[in-house]
This record gives sequence, C-alpha cells and structure tokens, in this order.
Amino acid sequence: MKEPSLPRHQRPSQFDQFLFGACYYPEHWDRSWIEADASMMQKAHVNVVRMAEFAWTLMEPRRGKYDFSLFKEAVTTLEQRGIKSILCTPTATPPRWLTYDNPQWMRVNSDGVPFSHGTRQHCCTNNPEFRKESRRITKAMAEAFRDMPSVIGWQTDNEFYCHVDECYCDCCQDEFRKWLKIRYNSSIESLNEAWGTVFWSQQYDYFEQVEIPRKWLQPAPCNPSALLDYRRFLSDSITSFQREQVEILRARNPDWWITHNGIFYNIDYYKFAEDLDFLAVDVYPAFWGTRPQDFIGASRLNERCRQASGTYIVPEQCGGPGGQLKFLQPTPEPGRMRLWAYQSIAHGADGMLHFRWRTCRFGAEIHWHGIIDHDNVPRRRFEEFSQEGEELQRIGPQILGTTKRVEIGISFSYEQDHAQSVLDYSRPQPDTQRELALGELMRQKFAVGYVNEDDSYAGLSILIVPSAIVITEDRARKITDFVAEGGTLLVTATSGQRNTNNHAIEQTPPGLLREVLGITVEEFGNIDHRKMNLCGSTFSTPAQYYEIVECADATPVAHWRFEEFPDTEAAQGKVGLSCNSFQKGRAYYLGTFLSEENITPILEILCDAAGLSPLAKADPNVCVIERHAEDRKLTFVLNNYPEAKRVDELPAGQELLTETPCEGQIILPPFGVAIVRS
Ligand code: GAL
Repeated sequence: MKEPSLPRHQRPSQFDQFLFGACYYPEHWDRSWIEADASMMQKAHVNVVRMAEFAWTLMEPRRGKYDFSLFKEAVTTLEQRGIKSILCTPTATPPRWLTYDNPQWMRVNSDGVPFSHGTRQHCCTNNPEFRKESRRITKAMAEAFRDMPSVIGWQTDNEFYCHVDECYCDCCQDEFRKWLKIRYNSSIESLNEAWGTVFWSQQYDYFEQVEIPRKWLQPAPCNPSALLDYRRFLSDSITSFQREQVEILRARNPDWWITHNGIFYNIDYYKFAEDLDFLAVDVYPAFWGTRPQDFIGASRLNERCRQASGTYIVPEQCGGPGGQLKFLQPTPEPGRMRLWAYQSIAHGADGMLHFRWRTCRFGAEIHWHGIIDHDNVPRRRFEEFSQEGEELQRIGPQILGTTKRVEIGISFSYEQDHAQSVLDYSRPQPDTQRELALGELMRQKFAVGYVNEDDSYAGLSILIVPSAIVITEDRARKITDFVAEGGTLLVTATSGQRNTNNHAIEQTPPGLLREVLGITVEEFGNIDHRKMNLCGSTFSTPAQYYEIVECADATPVAHWRFEEFPDTEAAQGKVGLSCNSFQKGRAYYLGTFLSEENITPILEILCDAAGLSPLAKADPNVCVIERHAEDRKLTFVLNNYPEAKRVDELPAGQELLTETPCEGQIILPPFGVAIVRS
C-alpha cells in the first residue's frame, strides 16, 4: 500500500471491500465440516476468515515435514463461496517436538524459572535458534500459499506480549547487551553517562557486565535510565522478530498485506506499525464492564490502535460471552455485539472479524463463546452476526475511504509513558489522564482522538499533552509551531522535566516548553491530608498534587487555595493554571494532573477558548463519532444504554442502516446504532 502524505492517524484504507467475517479453526473439527461451514458463512455475508495462527504442529508435524493440506482445502472451499482468507504465521504456539528437543528456548520469568510447554507464547522470540525456526515455518507457509489468490493478507504471530512481555533467558541478556552496544556506539562510557551509573557505584567497564534490570531480584530500586532502555529494547526486539517474518512474506508475494493484532504493553506500536500495511486490534469490550459508561475501555483501545496506524482492522471482536479457566464474562444482551462492532468501526476500523466462528469443544477456551455454540446450532448470536454482515456488505463501500474526524488530539507516546512509569511515585500516569480526557470529551460528543507525539498535528484545533516528562527539541518545536499557527494547547504537570536518558534536566521546568507556555514551575509537591483546591473564576476543584506556576508571559487562570492553615502553605494563593497567548494560538499549563474532579471545568475552558462545538446532543454515554472523506460525513450514533435514547442536533441526511431520511433527530432503541450520511 502506498504511504499517503496525511497524518498517520488519518491514513485511509486501500481495501476494495469492507472485510467482514470470523476467526475460523478448521483444525478443531473434522475436515468434512468445512463445506457446511463455508455455506453457513456465505449466508451470514462473511467475506473473509482468519486462520492457522495456532496450527504449527498440524502444518509441520515433524521438523521439515510439512502438511498444509487442511488449510489449502479450507482456503479453496471458502473461495468457492466468495470468502477470502487471512493466514497467520503460527509462531505463538511452537510444537512440542521443537520445545522437547530445545528446552533452552523457553522464555524465563523474572525469578529465572523457565516456562513449561502446554499453552502459548512459551518460546523466546529473542533466541536466535528459535528465530531460525520462525523464519523457516514462515517461508514454508508463504511458499505454500503464494499462488492462492483468495489469500489476501497475513497476520504475524498472534498478540505479541499478550501473556508474557519480558524474558530473562541468557539470549535476552545477550541481545540486550548487543542492543545497548548499538545504542551507545560501543562506548561503555556513553552508557555510564546515559544511565548515571556514578550513582550507587554502578559503573560498568564493558557491555558484557550489564544485566537486564530485574525489579524483584534487586534489593533497592532499579536505575530508571536502565529501566527505560529495557522498555525500548522490549519493543525494538519484538519489532525485529516480526520484521523477519514480514520480509519473508513480502518477498514471496508483494500483493499480500500484512498486519498484527495488538494492543498490549511494552510495544511502541507507532514504530512497530512501520513494517506493516496497517495494525489490527482485538476488542473484547466486556473486559471493561458492561455498564453504559464502560464504553470508554473499548474506545480507548481502538484509539491506541488508530493513533499508530490510521486505518486498521479488528481480527477479533467479541462473538459471545468470553470465558477462560478462571472467569466468565457477562453474556452480551441482544444487539450488544453489533453495537460493539460499530463502535470499533466508528473509531476507524475497516475490517471486522468476530472471535470465533464456533465455540471449541476442548482446550482452555471451551467457554470462550463464538458465534455458534458447541452444538453447531445457529441461535440469536448468529442472527445478529448475519445482520451485521448484511449491513456491512450494503454500507461498507460508503465507509471505506473515510477516516475519523479528530479536532481535539490527545497526545500518545510510548516513551513518555515509560519514562514516567519507571519512576512513578504513585502519580496519575499519562495514560490515566488520556483516558479521562477521552471519556469526558466523548461524553460531550466532541471529535476527539489519540494522536501520536511523532505524528503530524495537522487538522487539530486542540492538543492535550498529558504529563510529557521528556521533551526533546523536536517535540518542543512541534508543540510550539502548533500553537504559533493558531492551536489551543493544554500541557499538564511534570512536563518538560527530563531528557531522553530519563535524567532531570538543568533548566527550570517545563524546560523547552517554557517559551510557548510563558511560565516556569517553581515548586511541586503532594499534600497528603491537607485540603487544597484549584480555584478559577467559574470553578473550584480539589487536588492532591500542586505545582507553583510562575507566570512570565502567561496570565493566571486559577490559583491554589487551602481550606485549613493557609498561612503555612507554600502554594497558597499561587497560580495553578495559566494561559499564554502565543502568536496565533494559546497555551494552557495545568500545574496538576487531570483528574475525575477537574476534568470537566478544565476541558470546558479549553473547548470554549478554541470555539469548538459538539457533533450532536444526547445522554452522556450515547457515543457520537464522525468519519469523513472529502465528499461525505458519516455520523455514527451508538446507544450504550439498555433503554431508548433520543439524539438531537445531528446533521440532516440519510440514515444508512434503515435507509431513511434524518432531520437532525433520532430515537435509538436500546443498544441501537445509526449512521447518518450528510
Ligand atoms: C485473544 C486471543 C485469542 C483468544 C481470545 C479469547 O486475546 O488472540 O486467541 O485467546 O483472546 O481469549
């Protein structure tokens, strides 16, 4: 796919068909079932399935003895019904013959104990010998399927780091040292400098002495610079494992697109996605609860994917109640699965596959329910799935080519999160603040979304930068230019305090952001039991953490006020929120973290200043999200309540699902969905 010149988070799909389908496991039934499954899928308007991610042993029962016949048969039978296939490299479940002969390839936990065989993600992806096996099976699969035209794309592995994201085997030690050697140009002095090893006499003489920091096996807190490098290494090393597979697949058939299903921690997906055509994300909303307000969990996950990828697909969307050995999620009410699917589509998904076609009768996920039950009787979930399939077949062409409108960007960054988290002092992390801002702005129906700090800010009116502790010259320049060109900026506490080694910088905070914000931060602290409020002319909200903001060019907007013994408080009467008019824009600095208490008034100030209006009016947990292209706007309206809700001030146009005109008002049934084209 060609790389467009748009911001990454606005990259549209190049698909010629909206993908709809399910994850299919022909290996869990007799081969004779494939034909009937394909026919039933066709009835449900399925146009794609995903297969083979856990079937390594079937495809290679003995080293070098391949048997792709089952999946070839499945691909061919499905193709006859107009159904395409996404295949997966099967490296999440290495065969027993492989681990039995090579126990030293197993991942090792932080206590130094190797994992045993019997589940998945057990082999170390940094082990050079395991990597050879990964390349070998990828090549064999790619060659086996290269000439089957209905294989349209690939998923690498399955959910990297979903169960285990750290490994402490000898190979990981070696690879970490090699990675450090490259990062520090083979100079151990540079590493000592970057890690500040003079503190607690940690200096190294050569790279071979360096060990992966192990939080639990060290008597005192670890070096925060070493920890940050380790997080970078975790991301880079899984990216390089994937890249080996991607190169093999691309070389065998350049028409294939390649994706991977995230989103987990310890992967910088913005960088990771550069090797892919687009990223994918598996969405099981019940993980965050099923109350109306819990929609935010799935929205946040979709946004984490969209910020890294632009267009994306959902290879696994809830297909029923999910259960593993120790839990069973609530059963989605009628209409809820379809609602959740449209929620992902509204955020930007251009492909929707449900997990899984039929519930498995054995194994650890006997109760992870699919669209069809164990007894193969299609019931209400199948009906709902088929309805979704019919709708997407009909309206898919209008969705493809549109991207989510984002007027308010919330800055996302892997680096900032980890720089903060390795020295967290129980502070609200950037991600917590991001989610609060996303939730608040979505409840108010603003066009809000995550934007990576390395992406372009073009098109944004407001930029929210939650606790960006590491500000480089490039980041500062981009943020400054955004304001200079007319943007409205909000930066929150602890920003601009460290360099990329996670060292505190010499300048007064917020360091390189001082000019655009027009302030300095003179003091900070927690207040424990003392009661403090941030008071502006229209609001007063409690806070636990303060920064004393000294306005150089900025104007005070709110001050700190203590309820008891104000005379003994350093922050009493000092500025806690400021606004700086800077060239064509304005820059707010909040000397505390975004919190449940302050989020509403702070964001109101921001939206008023930027003159933004919401996309529609409705109850807080009805979501209104717009996707747009040059010639059309699609306003998705999603009712998360188990009762009917009215939505006002929508654009006038045509409601696509019911094919009826919309005059600006809609009544949505419980868990209902509408999409207004204008
Ligand atoms: C996903 C995973 C699937 C399946 C599903 C339900 O995370 O990719 O293979 O395990 O969860 O648990």
